[in-house]
Amino acid sequence: MFQITLRDTHFICKAEHDLLQSARRMAVKIPFGCCNGGCGMCKIKVLAGDYRLGLSSKAVLPDDIRKEGYALACKTYPLSNMVVELIDT
Ligand code: FES
Repeated sequence: MFQITLRDTHFICKAEHDLLQSARRMAVKIPFGCCNGGCGMCKIKVLAGDYRLGLSSKAVLPDDIRKEGYALACKTYPLSNMVVELIDT
């Protein structure tokens, strides 16, 4: 289990769970729509930590943006403690 920091809030996320699912379980608000990597509403920027990404639409998360640390919370799985911020879409 890893600690995820979002603004002044923390929540716990298991490696096999995505950040959005874990945040919602802990009543931490992240905007969302499809919960399946297609709408981009849950876009975040990873400021620190390691993670892996599941499959998502390249229209909402192009490769160049991924390389800059942007991710979709519904398709982001932690590999360490993380610090993230929300992105207005
Ligand atoms: S909720 Fe739609 S991409 Fe994450």
